[in-house]
Amino acid sequence: MLKLVTKNVGIENSHTLSVARSHGAYSRLEAAFAMTPEALTAEVIKSNLRGLGGAGFPAGRKWSFLPKDSPKPRYLVVNGDEGEPGTCKDKIIMIHDPHLLIEGIIITCWAIQSHKAFIYIRGEYDLPVEHVEQAIVEAKAAGILGETVMGHDFALDIVVHRGAGAYICGEETALLESLEGKRGWPRLKPPFPAVEGYMRCPTVVNNVETLSYVPYVVEMGAQPFADLGSERNGGLRMYSISGRVNRPGVYELPMGTPLREMIYDHAQGVTGGRALKAVIPGGSSAPILTPDEIDVPMDFDSLAKRGTMLGSAGVIVFDETVSMVEALKVIIRFYAHESCGQCTPCREGTAWLEKIVERILDLGGRPGDVDNMLRISRNIMGNTICPFGDGAALPVVSCVTKFRPEFEAWVRRGQPVTTLPVREAHIGEPVAAV
Ligand SMILES: Cc1cc2nc3c(=O)[nH]c(=O)nc-3n(C[C@H](O)[C@H](O)[C@H](O)COP(=O)(O)O)c2cc1C
Repeated sequence: MLKLVTKNVGIENSHTLSVARSHGAYSRLEAAFAMTPEALTAEVIKSNLRGLGGAGFPAGRKWSFLPKDSPKPRYLVVNGDEGEPGTCKDKIIMIHDPHLLIEGIIITCWAIQSHKAFIYIRGEYDLPVEHVEQAIVEAKAAGILGETVMGHDFALDIVVHRGAGAYICGEETALLESLEGKRGWPRLKPPFPAVEGYMRCPTVVNNVETLSYVPYVVEMGAQPFADLGSERNGGLRMYSISGRVNRPGVYELPMGTPLREMIYDHAQGVTGGRALKAVIPGGSSAPILTPDEIDVPMDFDSLAKRGTMLGSAGVIVFDETVSMVEALKVIIRFYAHESCGQCTPCREGTAWLEKIVERILDLGGRPGDVDNMLRISRNIMGNTICPFGDGAALPVVSCVTKFRPEFEAWVRRGQPVTTLPVREAHIGEPVAAV
């Protein structure tokens, strides 16, 4: 099976310059510099390479939005924050093939005429940081980065910046604030980063995986790359498959590979031969799918048509033994903890949702709890500065709607509690059987 960004995984010392070069690293630079920035951008647009950090925005089109007449410097910011639960793909590239990422950065900087790139890496990612920093040092020493790039009159510097453990700093504008040394609070858009990004200068923010495919667009040509995937979703991508499957892992597969094939062929089916109960297709912010919905191509447009999203392609599988109420508690606790607190509907709403789902589990719920969860979620959606609010609310709406009888059973189980004096309710112990 064809592999691109993961093809060097497993090769000893693949992260070092000499080994990486013997496997093709930097071999696409000549072809890229032979093209004008405009032609290169047009090629990436034609390749249907989508942004693979979450939103799926076409990469080349984003580059083309940089203002042509601005006198300000331009920046490339590489998003390696990788905070979405269920997602662990960017670190594979940064650990095993950091020179591929650097090559993608160089080509992109040529296309957007930027002379400085930042790589913002998740704070907990020690080994990825180590390998990326080492790769930059090696590339500088070899004349691949610096005042010239492999003899081309084009200066480029790359700076690594470590995050400090906040999920919201993966959101591009919060990331920019953090990079500028400020609290990671998202900015209102517009203006978009392409117009006002890092230090209010034109900036392209792209994900690690997105940029790592750019050398392959140059190597293969736009059309052959596009043809690897599905309609308007070019190439391959990395799917992180976790949860109750026999072979969890990161799989590089063509865009549009059916979800059923991923679970039953690549991940070798549900653990213990149990029945599938639900799947999150694109990281915890994506609405959940039921077993009758898994015959869907895993690309941005097909999943959007089914009311969910491909996002960061973190596929989380639940089997029949999983309580969806307990699963949702884990998810909502994460969002309540990670809400940056800037917008009231998100700050208060995620905390209320957490309280309600915890109460349902600990004591049984109150009549109206299920509807209240839906109401609170709908009050968050669309009412926040950044998409974090939607990402927290959408899984609640889908989970509660699709598994409503399960939620109602938990609520009913505990209803007697509401008539008991508070001291008789024991948190953590069910007080009535279902
Ligand atoms: C709450 C939140 C968290 C995000 N976290 C990440 C992340 O960890 N990594 C990432 O690449 N994109 C993340 N994104 C998406 C970025 O805002 C942005 O769309 C992306 O970095 C653009 O790169 P791309 O076009 O190559 O996907 C996040 C978005 C939101 C709303």
